[in-house]
Amino acid sequence: MSDGTKSEDTIIVTGGAGFIGANFVYAALKAGGSSVVNLDKLTYAGNLENLAALADNPRHIFVKGDIGDRHLVAELLQTHRPAAIINFAAESHVDRSISAPDDFIQTNMVGTFYLLQEARNYWQNLQGEARSAFRFLHVSTDEVYGSLEKDDPPFSETTAYAPNSPYSASKAASDHLARAFFHTYGLPTLTTNCSNNYGPYQFPEKLIPLVIHNALAEKPIPVYGDGANIRDWLFVADHCSAILAVLAKGIPGEVYNIGGRSEKTNLDVVHTLCRILDELAPRDNGLGYDQLITFVTDRPGHDRRYAIDAAKIEAEIGWQPEETFESGIHKTVQWYLDHVEWVANVNSGAYRDWIETNYEDR
Ligand code: NAD
Ligand code: DAU
Repeated sequence: MSDGTKSEDTIIVTGGAGFIGANFVYAALKAGGSSVVNLDKLTYAGNLENLAALADNPRHIFVKGDIGDRHLVAELLQTHRPAAIINFAAESHVDRSISAPDDFIQTNMVGTFYLLQEARNYWQNLQGEARSAFRFLHVSTDEVYGSLEKDDPPFSETTAYAPNSPYSASKAASDHLARAFFHTYGLPTLTTNCSNNYGPYQFPEKLIPLVIHNALAEKPIPVYGDGANIRDWLFVADHCSAILAVLAKGIPGEVYNIGGRSEKTNLDVVHTLCRILDELAPRDNGLGYDQLITFVTDRPGHDRRYAIDAAKIEAEIGWQPEETFESGIHKTVQWYLDHVEWVANVNSGAYRDWIETNYEDR
C-alpha cells in the first residue's frame, strides 16, 4: 500500500496504561485483529502492571511518551500508519486539578492540540480508503456539561457546556479543539462524553477504589460534604464496548454521550461497598465497615449531580451496557480482593503523599 495505512488494523491508543485505557487495550485486542500501539507518559496514574498480561503479546507495542511530543507522535504515525487514534491520555482527577491545575492545562489542552495537529498532518497525506476510514476518537467526560439540579433532565449531546473545575474546563477545551479540527480541516473526529466509570485497575484516588482500599486497611472512609452528590455509574468494560462501537459506526464530527442510567448518591455507593465487603471480607471485630464512614470538608465547587441521556448511542449505534450497577460493583469489589498485590504496589510513596495533601486538612 503506497500511501495508505500499513495495516488497517493498527490503532494508536494514548493513555493506555491508565484505568480506562488499559481496560480498552484488552478489549480492543480481544475484539479482533487490531494491533495496538500504546502511547503513555507513565505519570503517577500510568501503571505498566495494568498491562502485565500483554508482556508477550506481539500485537501490543508500548511506547513511553507524551501526547504533546509532536516529533514522537509524527514518528509513530509514520512508522505504524494506524487506522485510528483513540485519545484517553489525560490528567483525570478533579481534586488534583483543584490543588495543581498546571498539568491539566498542559496535557488535556496543549497535549490534545498537538496530537490533533499531528493526526491532521498524517491524515491529510493518506489516500483513498485509508483516508476515508481514518478516525480520531477523543474520549471525554460528562463533567464538561456542569452540574444538574435534582429534577433537571440528564445531559444530552446538545446540553450547553458549563465546566466547573480546572479538570472539566481543560477537557471541555479539548472537546472544542476536536470539534474545530473536524469543522475546519475535515479531520474525522468522534467525541464521546461518558459518566463515572468503575472497575478493575482504577487508581485508588477515585471514590470506589479509595473506599475499598481504606475499608480493608481499617482507615476512615471519607465522604465529602453531605454525601448526597449524585453520579451516574458505568462499569468500565461497558465504556470500552461503547467506544469500540462508536469507532466502528460513529459518524465523523458527531458526539456520543455514554452512560449507564445508574444514578446513585455517594452515600448509596459507599453503603453498597460496605455491605458487599461485610459479606466478602468481614472485619475481625465483627462491626460493619459503615462504622468507618467519616464526613469531611466538601470539595470546592463540588458538582451536585451528573446524569447521562444515552438515547443517541443506544438508537444510532445500537450500544447497551451489559452490567447493572449491582453486578458491576460486585465484580469490582471481588477484583480488588483478588488483586491485593496490585493495590499494594500502587500504594507507593507518591500515592501516600497525595493522600496526605488531599485529606490532612479536611
Ligand atoms: P487515568 O488517570 O487512570 O489514566 C490516564 C493515563 O494517561 C495514565 O496512564 C497517564 O500516564 C496517561 N497520561 C497522562 N498524561 C499523559 C500525556 N501527556 N501523554 C501520554 N500519556 C499521558 O484516567 P482514566 O480514568 O483512565 O481516564 C481516561 C480518559 O477517560 C481521560 O481522558 C478522562 O478524562 C476520561 N474519562 C474518565 C472517566 C472516569 O470515570 N474515570 C469518565 C469519563 C471520561
Ligand atoms: O463523571 C466522569 C468523571 O468521573 C471523570 O471525568 C473523572 O475523570 C473521574 O475522576 C470522575 O470524577 P468525579 O469527581 O465524579 O470522581 P471521584 O471518584 O473523584 O468522586 C466521585 C464522587 O465522590 C464525587 O462526588 C466526590 C466524592 N468523593 C470522592 C473522593 C475521592 C468523596 O466523597 N470522597 C472521596 O474521598
